[in-house]
Amino acid sequence: MKKPKNDLMEKIVSLCKRKGFIFQSSEIYGGIASCYDYGPLGIELKKNIKEMWWKSMVQFRRDVEGLDAAILMAPQVWEASGHVEGFTDPLVDCKVCKHRFRADQLEDAKVCPDCGGELTEERQFNLMFKTHMGPLEDQGSLVYMRPETAQGIYVNFLNVQKASRQKVPFGIAQIGKAFRNEITPGNFTFRTREFEQMEMQYFIKPGTDKEWFEYWKQERMKWYDVIGVTTQKLRFHEHGENELAHYAKEAFDIEYEFPFGTMELEGIHNRTDFDLTRHKESSGKDMSYFDDETRERYIPYIIETSAGVDRTLLTCLIDAYEEEQLEKDTRTVLHLSPKIAPIKAAVFPLVKRDGMPEMAQKIVEDIRPHYMAFYDQGGAVGRRYRRMDEVGTPYCITVDTQTLEDQTVTIRERDTMQQDRISIDKIKDYLDERILFVSIKSR
Ligand code: GAP
Repeated sequence: MKKPKNDLMEKIVSLCKRKGFIFQSSEIYGGIASCYDYGPLGIELKKNIKEMWWKSMVQFRRDVEGLDAAILMAPQVWEASGHVEGFTDPLVDCKVCKHRFRADQLEDAKVCPDCGGELTEERQFNLMFKTHMGPLEDQGSLVYMRPETAQGIYVNFLNVQKASRQKVPFGIAQIGKAFRNEITPGNFTFRTREFEQMEMQYFIKPGTDKEWFEYWKQERMKWYDVIGVTTQKLRFHEHGENELAHYAKEAFDIEYEFPFGTMELEGIHNRTDFDLTRHKESSGKDMSYFDDETRERYIPYIIETSAGVDRTLLTCLIDAYEEEQLEKDTRTVLHLSPKIAPIKAAVFPLVKRDGMPEMAQKIVEDIRPHYMAFYDQGGAVGRRYRRMDEVGTPYCITVDTQTLEDQTVTIRERDTMQQDRISIDKIKDYLDERILFVSIKSR
């Protein structure tokens, strides 16, 4: 695996492997470039991020429906969408060191930034992975691995609208894998060739796009606050003419101050009626919507919000990481929001006798139906706290001598390290108050 240059990134990569958040794919064979596997804690964190997105975008709203479309789609979809022709990056190679670059990311597209050698002429490289469906590997069996989940939504627009009896304006949301044969993947999971997207396409009446675009920009920015990302490190970046994707009339990125630069975390696009019109022309099917109140028929405009699951997860890890200087030592702590932390509570017996392990295990079993909980009896309590701090566990519960007398435990909060003593039968309420999702109003 290519090592990230940044010190903080090296620490994050190391922590991810050591603690079981993220592993290099096919590591025993030397790894495969820019593909990653999520370990036990990584998959919990990922699941929690996706759940927070789903709640805010679907469950808490009356105007957005969910969908899970297939990754493989009819190849005509990608011709109509413009991806076969236009989803390309300009590629250049160094004639001397053979390194490969995206010409649009270089200051001088003629000189190699690594060795100063001469670069080849630019050529357009299509980012879609191709494969074949069925036993014959010919042009007729060619299919693409989807490079965005959005098209699955567009081709299902009327299916969903009719089945759910939604009226414009309404949205369709989807979480799923996307694949891009990136020329310059890197910065750990920031840019990979296989990744997951959380996309929502909001169908609106033409002419109302300005206000809906602004609405979704604000909604999406607020969501990062809800999952605990430091808002001061987020900003909007408006795409200039030469940055706009082939389908977009207007686009804003939500950017985050990564250790390797301020870069895109999510894209918000005004895709106009581009996609539905292209699918109408290409399939010959009517993609228009009939408003039975105003008796108008039109092809809706679309405002898209498109976030990366892996990129959000990386942002949360970077944002949460701290090496906190204490009086006697340094503690590594992930200040993850309790809402997304992989393990919500760890339970320890102070010592391995007097019935404390049994009581602690019983508490873990009682928490498990509601939250991910972890039992640990290994080593001094202080060391156990530190292990939990390092993976972002917000609450550590300790069974001690007093527990045996009055059925109370200590709960230690990760960030303040403050301890409360509460009754065992109040643990669930204590966790609910701090973890349950209450901060987004339903629409
Ligand atoms: N449907 C629109 C679309 O796909 P995009 O700006 O190309 O727009 C949206 O991608 C989001 O998907 C990005 O903001 C990023 O979070 C994520 N993403 C895109 N390419 C990625 C890659 N190669 N690796 C990881 N995440 C990626």
